[in-house]
Amino acid sequence: MTDQILRRNFSPAAGGAEHGVAGQDNRKLFIRSFGCQMNSYDAARMADIMAPEGFTETTTIEDADLIVLNTCHIRERAAEKIYSELGKIREMKDAAPGRRVTLAVAGCVAQAEGAEIIRRQKAVDLVVGPQNYHRLPELVRRARCGQAVVETEFPVENKFDHLVSPAPAKTRSRGVAAFVTVQEGCDKFCTFCVVPYTRGAESSRPPDAVVSEVETLVAAGVREVTLLGQNVNAYHGADGAGRGWSLAMLARRLADIPGLLRIRYTTSHPSDMGDDLIEAHRSVGALMPFLHLPVQSGSDRILAAMNRKHTAAEYVALIARIRTSRPDIALSSDFIVGFPGETEEDFAQTLALVETVGFASTFSFKYSPRPGTPGAGLTQVDEEVKRDRLARLQAVLEARRSAFNAAAVGRRVEVLFEKAGRHPGQFGGRTPHLQAVHVDADASLIGTVRTVEIISAGPNSLYGRLADRAADASGPASR
Ligand code: 5AD
Ligand code: SF4
Repeated sequence: MTDQILRRNFSPAAGGAEHGVAGQDNRKLFIRSFGCQMNSYDAARMADIMAPEGFTETTTIEDADLIVLNTCHIRERAAEKIYSELGKIREMKDAAPGRRVTLAVAGCVAQAEGAEIIRRQKAVDLVVGPQNYHRLPELVRRARCGQAVVETEFPVENKFDHLVSPAPAKTRSRGVAAFVTVQEGCDKFCTFCVVPYTRGAESSRPPDAVVSEVETLVAAGVREVTLLGQNVNAYHGADGAGRGWSLAMLARRLADIPGLLRIRYTTSHPSDMGDDLIEAHRSVGALMPFLHLPVQSGSDRILAAMNRKHTAAEYVALIARIRTSRPDIALSSDFIVGFPGETEEDFAQTLALVETVGFASTFSFKYSPRPGTPGAGLTQVDEEVKRDRLARLQAVLEARRSAFNAAAVGRRVEVLFEKAGRHPGQFGGRTPHLQAVHVDADASLIGTVRTVEIISAGPNSLYGRLADRAADASGPASR
C-alpha cells in the first residue's frame, strides 16, 4: 500500500456556481489518496462529483481551493500521519491569509475519528466518511459558510445511486485499466481489522449497475477492470428480478462485453471462494490467472485468534483446488507477523506455509493494534520481535518473487499495454500474472494486448520485446 497523489486533469463543466461564492466556477481541487485501491476509486468519484461544481483537479496543493485528504486507517499510526500532514497544510493556509481554502478529511480515518479531527486541527473544515462522499458538493458548500461540518453517519440512501459519470475523455485520461467497486464493507470481523467499523456491513452493488458502469468504461477505451471489494468474493448483488448474483456470475456477464479484455478482482476471503468462482477461473478466458487471497498466518492457533474461520490446511487444500481448475494461476497474499500470542513456533508455521504454497507476490506487515478492535486489547508482541520476524518473512517472500519473475525470462507472455514507461520510447503493461513489463515500442500499443518475449527480469518488473505481428493483436488475451 503506497501513498498516491492522483494525477488526473479534466475540464470544468459549465455552470455550477457555488452557493455563496457565485462566479467562482474555475476552482482547483487537490486530492491526496492514501491506502487501498478502493480509496483510489473513491478519490476519482469525488473528483467526478466536484467537476460539475466547477472544480478542476490540480496536482499542486498550493493552487487548490479545495484540499481533500482521502485517508486510510488500516495500519500503523495512520491517524498521526494525517495530523502531521494537516499541520503542514495549516501552515500553508496561514501563509496565504487572503486565499480561501477548504480543507476536507475523507476516508477511513475520517470515519473512525470524526469530530476529534476538528478538535485537534482547527484548520479542517470538513470531515466526511466513505459512505457520504456523494454529498461532497453540499457538504463543501456548508463548510464554506463558516461552520465546520462532520458527516460520518451511515446513510440510508446508497452513494452509488448519486455518483456522476465522468466524460469519456476523462475516463481515457485515467488509463486503460480501471477499478470498479462492486462490494463494500465486511462482516467477517477479523480481530486485527478496522474495516468492519470504518466501511460498515457488507453490501453489494446491483449487477446491472456494475455492468452499465463497465460498459461505459469500455466504450471510453478501458480494456481491463479490477472489481473491488473489501470482501469481493462475498459479492451477492441482486438484479431487477431479485435474483442474487455471485461474483462468478458477474464475471461471466462482464466477460461478454465486447472490448473488455481482462477482468481481475480483489480482495478475497478464503471462506468465500465458492465452487463457481473456482470454476470460472477455468472457463472464463478474460478472468486473469492471478488471485490475491490473503492468509495472514500459517498457524492454526493464530488464525483462530484472528477469527479467520479456516485452518492452514484448509487454505492449502483450497489453493490445490484452485490450481486444479487453473494450473497456471499465480497466487498472492497478505501476511501479518506479531499478532498477540504469536510464538516462534507459530511464526515457523507461517514460513512453512509460504514454502508449501509458493506465492508469486505478497504484502506483509507487522501487526499494529487498531483502536476499537479485539486484538488491540491483548498482550502485545515485542516490537523488536515483530521487526525481526517481518525481516525474515520478507527475505523468503522476496526470494520467491524474484524466482517467479526470473522464470518468465525466455517465455512469451500476453501484455496489456497501459502507459508510457520510465524511459523515453518505453511503454509499460502487465502480464496476466500482474507483472509489470517494459518494452521499447510506440504509443499505439496502449490499450492492446500483444505477445512479448521476456528478455530480463528484475525484482519489480520484466523487460521484453514484441514477438507478434500487429495484425494478431486485436482479440482478447489468449490463454
Ligand atoms: N495490522 C497489520 N496489518 C493489518 N492488516 C489489516 N489490519 C492490520 C493490522 N491491524 C493487513 C492485512 C490485510 C491487509 C489489507 O492489511 O494483512 O489483509
Ligand atoms: Fe478486515 Fe478482510 Fe478480515 Fe474483513 S475479511 S475484517 S476486511 S481482514
